Amino acid sequence: MRNSVGGQFDRVLEIEARGGVWLHGPLELADDQRLSKLYVWLWQTPGNGPGGAATAVLDGAHFDNAAARGAGGAEWRTRADAIHGELRAGPAIGMALAILRRGNGSTDSYWWSDSNIRLDHTGVRGLTTDVNTKLAEAFQAAADTLKIPSAVSTAGAPKDTLELDNTLSWKTAAGNAATMLEHLQANILRPHVREHLSVLFLRFGDRAEGRTFLRKLAVLVKSARKHLQEVEDFKTTGKPGTSYVGVGLTHAGYAALGVDARRIPGDASFTRGMKDPDSRDKLHDPPASTWEPPYREEIDAVVLVGDATDGGMAATRDEVLDRVTGSITVLGEETGLGQHNGSGAGIEHFGYVDGLSQPLFLDEDIEAEKDNTPGALVWDPRFHLDRILVKDPAAPDPDVHCGSYFVFRKLEQNVRRFKQAENDLAQALGLSGGDCQRAGAMLVGRFRDGTLLTVQRTPGAPLAGSNNFDFSADANGRRCPLQAHIRTVNPRGSGGMELPAAERMHIMARRGQTYGERTDDPGIDLPPSSRPTGGVGLLFMAFNADFGQQFDFVQERWVNNPGFPNPNGGAEPGLDPVIGLGARKEGTYFPIWDAAASRTTAATPQAVTLKGGEYFFMPSLAFLRNL
Ligand code: HEM
Repeated sequence: MRNSVGGQFDRVLEIEARGGVWLHGPLELADDQRLSKLYVWLWQTPGNGPGGAATAVLDGAHFDNAAARGAGGAEWRTRADAIHGELRAGPAIGMALAILRRGNGSTDSYWWSDSNIRLDHTGVRGLTTDVNTKLAEAFQAAADTLKIPSAVSTAGAPKDTLELDNTLSWKTAAGNAATMLEHLQANILRPHVREHLSVLFLRFGDRAEGRTFLRKLAVLVKSARKHLQEVEDFKTTGKPGTSYVGVGLTHAGYAALGVDARRIPGDASFTRGMKDPDSRDKLHDPPASTWEPPYREEIDAVVLVGDATDGGMAATRDEVLDRVTGSITVLGEETGLGQHNGSGAGIEHFGYVDGLSQPLFLDEDIEAEKDNTPGALVWDPRFHLDRILVKDPAAPDPDVHCGSYFVFRKLEQNVRRFKQAENDLAQALGLSGGDCQRAGAMLVGRFRDGTLLTVQRTPGAPLAGSNNFDFSADANGRRCPLQAHIRTVNPRGSGGMELPAAERMHIMARRGQTYGERTDDPGIDLPPSSRPTGGVGLLFMAFNADFGQQFDFVQERWVNNPGFPNPNGGAEPGLDPVIGLGARKEGTYFPIWDAAASRTTAATPQAVTLKGGEYFFMPSLAFLRNL
């Protein structure tokens, strides 16, 4: 029957380990209708045993609208996760609301209304039809008892449970929050393993082919939900996860795909692109004419393929390239390769442990960091989702489909020059023996093993409370110089330019990887002459919600600003010695850790060079599937 919606939950397929329930049912659509949203609620009241409630949301991206327009319609299938208590075999009440959109933009809603659904492994049903009003009353009563966050409002529409101005528990996410995770790309909220990494830059020659490519690529793109579950499974069963595939588009890429200009993500830097002279001026970048060839071209898309093993990465990379058809050009490729020190910790090419401090968005990660941190918290690692996620304006439902702005910069490292600069600084400050290591630590802010220079004068304490620190006991930089890299890129309340809470708004989520192979061992002491002068570096990558407030701000107003940080209004500390771009001047250092006497030394030479980069938006899976 046209225009009708099932009328029953067809069957309950299975109850999953943590109380989830698989449901499916029929849906038949009129010719000009498509499914916009399907909300499903199930609950068991305390009177029926241990109470449980579950919600699920399905949207058009997961539903074959074309098939549903044929006789007999098509099936929807979705999983409802227990959000309160635990769903057990036994009677439950359920209902579902489908929002159907017509060609002219108007919407119709249809209710499924069933009670006494039996939840068990065999799919036994005991369905009796009920009237909508009765169910709505019953639902409201259950919602009141169980405090279901997505309770039906008086208007009959479900409330949005996705709060971007909050952190998120992925394990208990329900409703819109769960839908968001199903459609968000992996590696955004939590880093994905990318020990072996391929970064492919593409240009689309034909709009339809570009769209087909992305649609087919979407099959390989892992959702955040799947990634997080894979990590959990690995912890409990040791089963390795699948490869990471991520995809980002430039503003030019959206235009090449023919996406309506009003639906293209609107960040100003993203719209301009990194080659634009305004971006260059802002970031103090060298002219694009000096960049490596692929970055001088107009890039439409980036595809990242990451895995723990080279074989895994190569096989998935082949699958990506198999989808590249005639009009799509691979402009260039970078190959990332993790570097490690003797303890197995990930290091960058100057030899320092990297990736220690990160903003955390997931409640589970925040709890884990707190558990692993001794003592009181002086630095709150929690950041709200709106520091990394933005609503995806080109997705079918921007209210729940999210993406993230992604910055990519290829930063070549002249290791020989940096190592020589460390030696020169040690000599200028009169450091000797084991204390020589402190020179490099003064440039970075941490010793090579990750030990914080603001905490102690020697290496050897790399992990405890690694991200739980600030510079309040070191306002003058007598322990860790003000200009040290980690102090410039995250002053932790000591910048002197803004209030601490405002300073936190500039933090981004770094997801970089080193590139280039070494014949020397980057983790041990060797003379600078045996170090490479090029061909190795960092593929700097970071997720942002707003480039102007995050990456651009940090590069322009902090890193390249000789007057930052300056908590006491003293002399200008100079540029970030590791990555600062611009004129470098003499620096002030304290030869004895935490003592007042300072010495002025020659400028640290620039050892990091930008070889190219671009701004991207990593869209939701719903966008990719619906192209
Ligand atoms: C080749 C270039 C770079 C090198 C060698 C480098 C190296 C490092 C190292 C060794 C750390 C300490 C480990 C950690 O705290 O996670 C670090 C931290 C950090 N870096 Fe870089 N970095 C580079 C480029 C950049 C760029 C371009 C930015 C942003 C504009 C950046 C932003 C950060 C941030 C935000 C932190 C964490 C600071 C904190 O929260 O305490 N880095 N970097």
